[in-house]
Amino acid sequence: MTPADGPASPPPGAPRVRITGVGHAVPSRILTNAELERTVETTDEWITERSGIRERRIAGPAESSSTLGTAAARAALASADVAAGDIDLIVVGTSTPDGVFPATASRIQDALGARRAGAFDVNAACAGFLAALSTGMQFVAGGGARRVLVIGAETMSRIVDWTDRNTCVLFGDGAGAVVLERGTASEPGALESFVMRSDGSLASLLYCGGPEAPAIAGSPGGPYIVMDGRNVFRQAVTAMSQAAAEAVALAGLRVADIALCVPHQANARIIDAVARNLGLPGERVFTNLDRFGNTSSASIPIALSEATAQGRLRPGDHLLMLAFGGGLAWGAMVVEWAGVRTGPGSVDAPVARAAEPLEVR
Ligand code: ACO
Repeated sequence: MTPADGPASPPPGAPRVRITGVGHAVPSRILTNAELERTVETTDEWITERSGIRERRIAGPAESSSTLGTAAARAALASADVAAGDIDLIVVGTSTPDGVFPATASRIQDALGARRAGAFDVNAACAGFLAALSTGMQFVAGGGARRVLVIGAETMSRIVDWTDRNTCVLFGDGAGAVVLERGTASEPGALESFVMRSDGSLASLLYCGGPEAPAIAGSPGGPYIVMDGRNVFRQAVTAMSQAAAEAVALAGLRVADIALCVPHQANARIIDAVARNLGLPGERVFTNLDRFGNTSSASIPIALSEATAQGRLRPGDHLLMLAFGGGLAWGAMVVEWAGVRTGPGSVDAPVARAAEPLEVR
């Protein structure tokens, strides 16, 4: 089977799927490396050198994955100029849902007043947004939905052991969202390829809860994230490099054709190593983890929203997205950029502003 025949490139003549809106929302509370120096044995220098992270956002008591996700969704709907009532389906990538059930997607559906929409969550840890996005895109391409809202929303601060310096310096909270709509051959915007992979035999490298979860001394509550950072690092570089190369080939492209890569924002050194392996110059790789840390499923849509606002993508550009996380689960996707509205006037008032101020773009 040649790459073009692969199961993850849309068949010829399949309806085109366009990303027509993007938005994100983060809590206003900033937690700096300097503050962490006062709570665990670490230094700003160690965190910055080893991860590239300088600060992260932390949800307040009135915020949750659904409130952040709702605010991000409102911004994305405004950017697409689509009413909540016209959305057919809401798919939320999250590993920190508000509760076991109802789905965080259903809470967001209610908050938005998206009365016609179905709603469900998907969990692929830090690869959750690409899992949600590939699902939403299949619905549009297959004719099951005309307009889909895909959201990555996380409150990682709630599953971090704040006494564990191996993990607590890495994670942050936030949400990002995109609107998907059916397109035509005469306008830019299409899903070009995607690759989703998992190796559950390596679950013990990165997990939260479950039968293997140890009781963590001195930390009431939980479950908390447990991570073998060094091995996750190695796996992430290899897996994302391979998935990216595969997705680019499936799309019938070369790495030189990729205008912008928006990778999962876990660690600047992982991103640099993947870019080196692919031969992607640094100026074509978007990072914002210095300000947000690892927001898991939210990291790609937050970065995409910022990249769009900064004018880093033009209609017709080929965008490469990469993700890796617990599972292990990872993936890559190539999308032809449709072009979206951004900037002042395209953003609704955030829903949770009264209790906990949000920043929405
Ligand atoms: N401050 C100071 N020292 C620290 C800290 C800290 N915050 N954390 C660990 N150290 C120490 C370690 O104890 C170790 O000390 P030792 O040599 O005496 O044992 C030393 O620093 C080096 O530790 P390493 O783990 O080898 O450091 P490394 O260079 O690998 O960086 C890091 C650690 C940042 C965690 C890196 O391995 C990483 O980013 N891993 C991948 C994370 C990731 O991608 N996760 C996936 C997504 S998450 C999800 O799916 C939910």
